[in-house]
Amino acid sequence: MRTIDLRSDTVTLPTEEMMEAIAQAELGDDVSREDPTVNRLEQLAADRFGKEAGLLVTSGTAGNLISVMTHCRHGDEIYCEAEAHIYYYEVGGMSAIAGVIPRLIKGRRGVYTAEQLEAHYRGREMHYPNPALVAIENTHNRAGGCCWTIKEVEEVGKAAHDRGMKVHIDGARIFNACVALGADPKDYANSVDSVTFCLSKGLSCPVGSVIVGDKEFIDRARKARKILGGGMRQAGIIAAPGIIALERMIPRLREDHDNAKLLAKGLVEQGLSIDMATVQTNIVVAETAPNKSADYISKAKRSGVLCSSFGKSLVRFVTHNGIVKEDIVDVLERLGPS
Ligand SMILES: Cc1ncc(COP(=O)(O)O)c(C=O)c1O
Repeated sequence: MRTIDLRSDTVTLPTEEMMEAIAQAELGDDVSREDPTVNRLEQLAADRFGKEAGLLVTSGTAGNLISVMTHCRHGDEIYCEAEAHIYYYEVGGMSAIAGVIPRLIKGRRGVYTAEQLEAHYRGREMHYPNPALVAIENTHNRAGGCCWTIKEVEEVGKAAHDRGMKVHIDGARIFNACVALGADPKDYANSVDSVTFCLSKGLSCPVGSVIVGDKEFIDRARKARKILGGGMRQAGIIAAPGIIALERMIPRLREDHDNAKLLAKGLVEQGLSIDMATVQTNIVVAETAPNKSADYISKAKRSGVLCSSFGKSLVRFVTHNGIVKEDIVDVLERLGPS
C-alpha cells in the first residue's frame, strides 16, 4: 500500500525540471555576489514583490530571524499574533539570538486588526521596550492556512508605520494566499518593509527561502545572514529550482486548495470537527475527540496515511504537489468514520 503523506508541504520533492536545472546551473561564489543563478533568483523575487532587492536564505526560520535581526536591536519589542510561527515554532530565536521580546496579539483565524495593534501599543515610554517591529503571518499556519486580505495588511501596515514601527510578513506560504484571493504579491509587499517566502514548501524546491525588501535593508540582512553562518558559496544549485518555482509552480497551488477543501468536507462527514471557514488554502486543521489526536494519527498511519499533531485534540493535514484528487478520495476511504 502506498503511503500518502499529508504531514506537510515540506515533504515535496523537486520536480524533474528542477533536478535538470540544478545540474545545468551556472555557478559562482555567492558570498562575493558572483553566482549568476542566485543573482537571477534574488532579482526575480524582488521584482515579483515590487521590492528593490532579494536575499536567498537557507530556510523560512532563517529568513524570519535575519529580518528580525535587521529591523531590530537587542531589547526591542516585536508585535506578532499569539500563535505565529515566528513565536511558536522558531526555537525562541527572536529572543535567544535577536534579543527581542514578543508582544502577542490574539487574532481571529490568524489575523489581527489595526485596532487591536493600536490597543496593544504602549508607546515609547521609559519603562517599556522599544516598539520596533510588527510581524504578520500570511498564510497563518496554526490557524489552518488562513489568508490576510490586502486591506488587512494595509491597515496594520499603516498603524505600525504611523507609530514608527517596521513591518515584516512571514510569507512562508504567501503565494497560497495570492492564489486563493487572486492577489498580486506586490499589493501585499507595498505596505510592508520586508517579506520572507519559502521555496521549499508548496513550490516544491528542496531548500531555501527568499527575503525581499529595499536595497539598504537587504544589504544589512546579507551581513546578518553571514554572521549566522548562512553565507553560502555555489548556492546556484539551490537558486536554480527556485527560479522554476517562481516561474511555473505558483498556479498549481490552486489544485492543493481544491484538494484541501475536498478532504475537509470528507473529514467532517466522518465526524471530525473543522471550522470550514479556515479551509482557505492547503492546510486542514481538524479536531478529534478530546485528547485523541495521538490515537487518531497512529490509526491513520496504520492505514498508510500520514498527518501531524497540532495539539492534544488537533491534527493537521497539508495538501501539496504530488497529491491528486484520487489520493484524497483514497485517504477518506482509508480513514473511515472516526
Ligand atoms: C508560517 C511559517 N513560517 C515559517 C516557517 C519556517 O520555515 P522553515 O521550515 O523553512 O524554517 C514555516 C514552516 O513550516 C511556516 O509554516
